[in-house]
Amino acid sequence: AGGKRMRPMLVLLCAGPDAGDAAVRAGIAVEMVHMASLVHDDVLDRAPLRRGQPTVFASSGRERATSLGDRLFSTAFKVLVDGGDADAVSEVSATAVDLARGELKQREGAFNMELTEADYFERCGLKTGRLFEAACVLGRASTGGETGPIGQFGHRIGLAFQLLDDVLDIAGPPERTGKARGTDLLDGTVTLPLIVAAGFDPALAALDLRTLDEETAAIACDRIEATGALEQVRARAISLIDEAKAG
Ligand code: FPP
Ligand code: MG
Repeated sequence: AGGKRMRPMLVLLCAGPDAGDAAVRAGIAVEMVHMASLVHDDVLDRAPLRRGQPTVFASSGRERATSLGDRLFSTAFKVLVDGGDADAVSEVSATAVDLARGELKQREGAFNMELTEADYFERCGLKTGRLFEAACVLGRASTGGETGPIGQFGHRIGLAFQLLDDVLDIAGPPERTGKARGTDLLDGTVTLPLIVAAGFDPALAALDLRTLDEETAAIACDRIEATGALEQVRARAISLIDEAKAG
């Protein structure tokens, strides 16, 4: 189903013109870990749509989706091990641990309207920032470059990406995003647009996410949008990108 393949693109960009086998292996590995995490995420979220197509979970069931995610995840490590770069294996395994920690944090905070912006940023750093960071570090290291601040660059770009992804969950439309609108609310995932909007609209602050169905989730999305929270979160994402570029 395609995908933007941003993480391997970052690997290659950070590797520079001398990118070779190690960069290609790193690019494959980060994209496969990413795909594995999405296939598993769609099982956990019982998501119907991804990239405009039925998820593996929806088309083939949780058993096959779980097994396919496992296969993608283990193949990512095989590609790295076959390249013989122990540092790359170490970076990707530490990243995978953080992805899982981020997902656990998301489960722990589900339906909790007391969640703070700091909680949100910690979770997003683990579940998304970390893999972008690894992509940049692996790319740079593959051509023998000093990794220096490149990891922080990737981390900030990853955070910005997650903020915009969370805006799109509220804004849709599904024809553009390839995903159902309001899925985060229905899953009990408290994202920055909701946290910001709840500060403006007491009805949103009092919302019990457990009671939502598709219809009331769509109404909640409209209310969030009406507070101007989406523009604020988009602006925060742009600032993160500016900070990433500034170093
Ligand atoms: C998509 O984000 C999901 C993630 C960024 C990470 C999911 C991580 C796991 C399932 C655990 C670790 C898995 C492995 C294989 C190490 P999202 O849910 O915010 O976005 P979405 O709207 O695209 O679903
Ligand atoms: Mg999800």
